[in-house]
This record gives sequence, structure tokens and C-alpha cells, in this order.
Amino acid sequence: MSETSAIPGQDSIQESYIKRIAALQSDNKSLTDELETTRMEREEVRAKLFESLIANKKYLRELERLRKENLTLKRMPLFLATVLEMGPDYVLLRQHGNNQEFITTVPEELQDDIQPNSRVAVNNSLTIVRVLDRSVDVRAKIMELVEAPDLSYDQVGGLESQIQEIRETVELPLTNPAIFQDIGIEPPRGVLLYGLPGTGKTMLAKAVAHESKATFIHMSGSELVHKFIGEGAQLVRDIFQMAREKAPSIIFIDEIDAVGSIRTHDGTTGSAEVNRTMMQLLAEMDGFRTRGDIKIIAATNRIDILDPALLRPGRFDRIIEIPMPSAEARQKILEIHSRKMKKEEDVDLLEIAKETEEASGADIKAIVVEAGMNALRRGASVVSRRDFDAAIRKVLGDEVQGSEESLRMFS
Ligand SMILES: Nc1ncnc2c1ncn2[C@@H]1O[C@H](COP(=O)(O)OP(=O)(O)O)[C@@H](O)[C@H]1O
Ligand SMILES: [Mg+2]
Repeated sequence: MSETSAIPGQDSIQESYIKRIAALQSDNKSLTDELETTRMEREEVRAKLFESLIANKKYLRELERLRKENLTLKRMPLFLATVLEMGPDYVLLRQHGNNQEFITTVPEELQDDIQPNSRVAVNNSLTIVRVLDRSVDVRAKIMELVEAPDLSYDQVGGLESQIQEIRETVELPLTNPAIFQDIGIEPPRGVLLYGLPGTGKTMLAKAVAHESKATFIHMSGSELVHKFIGEGAQLVRDIFQMAREKAPSIIFIDEIDAVGSIRTHDGTTGSAEVNRTMMQLLAEMDGFRTRGDIKIIAATNRIDILDPALLRPGRFDRIIEIPMPSAEARQKILEIHSRKMKKEEDVDLLEIAKETEEASGADIKAIVVEAGMNALRRGASVVSRRDFDAAIRKVLGDEVQGSEESLRMFS
């Protein structure tokens, strides 16, 4: 000790070292403390993260469960009902279709959306699953009926004078209404096409719609009666409303005999419903007299059973027969449907047309398709006359056989 203190100034140096060491030590301590807090914080964050992960997992499981529940709800058929009455803790519903009334409760999340006259979807345990917005509902249904056919007149074989007539009565007033105003005549409002099945009535209506670039609303009489049970009359009203909003438009009523047949007046509830639809149709047809930009095309295979009210003058401006194709028309239809087909030299469409006397346009198409199938079956890529012969026998021969069978049944 005495040795060290022998060096002058040594004491003060030593002192300063001791101070620095003390300062460093205290620095070290606070850093250690800081590190410790950080470590603790990290632990805390880690714990929180872990908690969130667990919570997340729980939510994911819940989400999955809801998704599944949603799916089963969607998969289960839902029934339509209308709210008749609402009590403090119940609703009285009437189910569409069978008109059964029942009482059920309103799920809490739907409480605010339900009022008397609301339309709701119920599942098969009669729980309300959804409240339907009436306008959206109807619109969705009608939008299903709006089509944009991609069919032009040159895909229709024969029927030249019929096409001409429909162009004058349907297409011209839609595309050029001024012509009628100039001459001072009321433009025609609609045509009725009648003829045997498969003669091209539906096809023709689609072609007119395509060529006149109008909104095309396609409804079928049998769907009105069978698919939209109980809603036919309302749907007819909504369809005409939609046609007015989206004018110029063409309303095509296919198989109009399903709603407008004399046979339906048999006094059953089903027929009362069909009659209501029919009355609504007549009312709408009479109602839009003054409007030039909505046209009706109706079609039927059974003009013989059509309600005379529909045929009365003033309902349809023209009643146009769509005949079975002539030999010349059959040749054209053969050409149209075999346009893209590779044919052997011996395939003479004129000859085939002559040999298919009783064929409709739809039969001709079936013959062409069948001939192609025959070639495929032989492994050939070019269709021969024999493929056509077999196809004719199959398509038209079946028909002859069929009618023989039904004759036998009745004898
Ligand atoms: N005149 C025709 N020209 C071309 N194809 C036709 C013709 N007539 C019928 N077809 C074919 O037959 C199918 C069915 O005809 P469609 O128009 O539904 O008959 P309809 O409505 O008179 O029962 C059409 O999609 C078309 O392929
Ligand atoms: Mg048809």
C-alpha cells in the first residue's frame, strides 16, 4: 500500500477510477433493469399473442360452424309465406301454394325487418330464415325470363312470308315507330303464331327479338301455371311492368294454351288460379293499347283449344300459321343445320328433302344430328348418304312406329 501511495497523484487517479467503475456499475444496473422490463414486456406480449391465437382459433371454428349451418339452410328447401298478423312474440304466416296458416316466432335478428304482408322464407321446421324484399324477389324472377337470343333470320329455313309478316307487325314498329305516326295508323301490338310442334315458332320469336334489339322477355304458359303456382296473375302484372320500364321490349308467351285454354274452365281450384292468370293477361293486353314500344308474340301448338277471348279481334293483330316445311324449306333447313358438317359427295340435300315428306323443322335438325352421330360411330369424319338414310329411318320411322303403337292401344 505504502508503495502505491509513494507515487504522487496516484490517490486521485485511483479515486477517479473508482468513480468511473461506480458509474459504469450503476449504468450496468439500469441497463439490466431495462432489459428485465423489456423481457417482462415481451413475455406479456407473447402471452397476449397466445391468447389471441386461441381466440382466433375459436372464431375460425365458429365461422366454420356458421358456414356449414348456412350451407345446410341453403340446401334445405325453403317455403314462401306471407305474414298475416304480428303479435308481441309471434307471427301468423300463410304458406304459399297450400295456403296453410301457422304461428311461429321471429328470430331476433329479423325482428326489425318483418311487418304484416312481408314475404318470408321458412324452412321445413317453419322457422323464418329470410325476409324477402318483394321487389327484389320479383325482379330476380323476371330477370330469369329476360333473354338475349343470338339467332338471326338466316338461321330459319323457309317461312319467308311469315318472317315478312312478323317483321312488319313486330320489328318495324319497334325500330321505326315514326313510320306509323307519319301515316297516322296505330302500330300493331302483337301476333299469335300457331302450328304443329317443331315448326320453328319459338325460334322465330327469338330471331325477331334478336333482330329488333329489344328487351326479350320469354315466359312460357306452362311455367306460369306449374312453376309459379299461386303467383301467375301477379307475375303477369310484373312482367308487363318490367316490359314498360325496359321498352322497347317484346314479351314472348310460349305455349299460351297452358293459360288460355277452354279446357281449364272446369271449376277446380287449379283452374280458378289459371283463369286469374288468363284474366290478368287479357287485362294487360288491353291496357297497353296506346304504347307502341311493347309487342307481344304468343305461340301455341293447340289453337283448337284456345280460349276464343284470346282470338277476338283487337287482342292479336295477326294470327299467323307456321306451316310444316315444304320440300324447298326442308332443303334449306337441312343446309342450315349441316352448314359446318363435312359431307360425302353422294349427300344430296335436295333428294333428302324430298324423302322427308312428313318431317318438321325439329325433325330435320334431329336427322342431321343423328347422321353425324352415325358417322362418328363408324369412326368416320365425313358423313355419307347412308348415315343420313339410317338417321331418316330412325327419326321418322320411330314416329310412324309410335303412332302405330298408339293406334293399337286405342283399338
Ligand atoms: N324453320 C326452321 N328452320 C331451322 N330450324 C328449325 C326450323 N324449325 C324448327 N327448327 C329446329 O327445331 C328446333 C325446335 O323448333 P322450335 O322453334 O322450338 O319449334 P316450335 O316452337 O314451333 O315447337 C329449333 O331450335 C331448330 O333447331
Ligand atoms: Mg316452341
